[in-house]
Amino acid sequence: MLVFKAAAEIRDYFKSKSVPLGLVPTMGALHSGHLSLVQRACNENERVVVSIYVNPTQFNQAADLSHYPSNFKRDKELLKPFGNQVIIYAPDDNEIYPEGTKSKNYDFGTLTTYMEGEFRPGHFNGVATVVETLLKTIRPSKAYFGEKDFQQLQAIKALNIQKNLGVVIVGCPIVREAQGLAMSSRNQNLTPDQRKQASVIYKTLQKLKNKDFDGNIKEMRAYFVKQVEQYNSFKVEYFLVASPKDLIPVDEINPDGIYRFFVAVFVGKTRLIDTLPFDRM
Ligand code: PAF
Repeated sequence: MLVFKAAAEIRDYFKSKSVPLGLVPTMGALHSGHLSLVQRACNENERVVVSIYVNPTQFNQAADLSHYPSNFKRDKELLKPFGNQVIIYAPDDNEIYPEGTKSKNYDFGTLTTYMEGEFRPGHFNGVATVVETLLKTIRPSKAYFGEKDFQQLQAIKALNIQKNLGVVIVGCPIVREAQGLAMSSRNQNLTPDQRKQASVIYKTLQKLKNKDFDGNIKEMRAYFVKQVEQYNSFKVEYFLVASPKDLIPVDEINPDGIYRFFVAVFVGKTRLIDTLPFDRM
């Protein structure tokens, strides 16, 4: 499997090849969710670049960055079954940030104001900086992102339009562990007990979806917090209901409206997020 570390090398490699190219940007520590993106990209493109780069500018806390799991050897093994169709791009900081590790400023309006935008200041500027660089370096026809990071997906769609990048941004469904926990590289930092218990996040969202709380968000939040925080090391950072269009949290549910739950939960030091569509029709 080809591995490129330099932007110039990968640009050179594809210069003479005019083939449908897919990009799956990742921060490594690959799991089945990533592999489902790679599979979809392989189905829809002749060649697929999987980028592996832990982007420092999207971490607003140094400890979060230093605890982020990373295992390049294992990632390579996991990608091997896709054969030569897949190429790895694993740049270092100098390739992505030749002028210093700093993010640019973007304005995605309400799409990045709340949820992760509010609780992780600067996060989306970091994400947009690296994604813009990757899209401009690789020049794919399509790029694939998971819906677990729903807010990120909407911000990247906006980035693509604002910067006129001309890439088809494909959102792919969340892949979950057997008990319902959304797949995330961060799950590798959970103890086996925490990993089992963390399925409470999805299970509770499912219950909220099916149970009639009369659209009362306060009661929904209280129920979510009570269920999730029954476990000692669990702490809900936010539980919000927002329209998938503008990502503005609402206080009241309109019976005809379409919404999503957005949650962030600390399990010990590990921060997990999840999201689920929700309507009252
Ligand atoms: O979703 C991720 O893994 C990252 O935010 C991304 C899109 C690879 C940018 O660093």
